[in-house]
Amino acid sequence: MIIGIDIGCTTTKAVAVKEGRVVKTIKTKAFDAVTSATGALGKLMIESDISMSAINSIAITGAGAFKIENNLFGIKTDKVDEITAIGKGGLFLSGKEKLVISNIGTGTSIIEAGKDGIFHIGGTAIGGGTITGLSKELIKATSFDTILRLADKGDLHQVDLLIEDISDSEISFLNKKATASNFGKMLDTASREDIALGIINMVYQVIGMISVFAARSRNLESVLITGNGSNNPIGKKILEEISGIYSIKFEFPLLAEYTTAIGAALK
Ligand SMILES: Nc1ncnc2c1ncn2[C@@H]1O[C@H](COP(=O)(O)OP(=O)(O)OP(=O)(O)O)[C@@H](O)[C@H]1O
Ligand SMILES: [Mg+2]
Repeated sequence: MIIGIDIGCTTTKAVAVKEGRVVKTIKTKAFDAVTSATGALGKLMIESDISMSAINSIAITGAGAFKIENNLFGIKTDKVDEITAIGKGGLFLSGKEKLVISNIGTGTSIIEAGKDGIFHIGGTAIGGGTITGLSKELIKATSFDTILRLADKGDLHQVDLLIEDISDSEISFLNKKATASNFGKMLDTASREDIALGIINMVYQVIGMISVFAARSRNLESVLITGNGSNNPIGKKILEEISGIYSIKFEFPLLAEYTTAIGAALK
């Protein structure tokens, strides 16, 4: 059995892979990388009754991986480059031969993966961290569930300048409800709910658009969305709207938030 541990900027994910199958996943959060990695490993072993001797090796990746210098508990521990891990994990979860992956974590990275290799196309520092950071300051909400609950009741007309605000007709292929400027209207009457939706809308519109450009630059028609950002139901809807306009399909695989950890274990 191989254990993959992804120490991300916000959360740590761990998976157990046996004979090419993911047999267990866990998520945890700790203050420092060493506690995250050892805690994740311990939790995984206890929850699924895995003994130390059943583990052949551990593969560590993610932003915090460089802080792990030695083998964990005497088990062979290797470091895997995060971009490679995302690419491998994306290929595994999609079953495709070539694809573009947008990994929405705290920030967002966009990767091309295929037979010819795994390449970092680029990305944006706009990501899940932008949602939590702006929400903390602008709507005084720190729990992700609260942010989603508020956004669910939000009205975008209160914060975003829409095409209908500036034009009597559609502009090119953009319909009247499309955003012309994120937060470009920001009425005095905007509520916390409206602002929460405005934040998520801005983040997913930016990620959606750069994903469209990345896919087009590689002549592909779909993008695999991974990371915890794949599980945001409002974000998903926004990506689906972009999909309708630009004809690029967004795919949301099961285990999306474990892509990086899975890819590390498969390396
Ligand atoms: N329950 C949830 N459902 C969906 N998204 C969530 C949930 N809880 C937190 N998030 C979002 O997920 C983000 C973290 O995602 P993820 O765990 O993939 O990042 P990470 O791997 O720690 O970061 P990075 O890959 O950038 O180093 C948070 O910033 C938050 O916006
Ligand atoms: Mg990550």
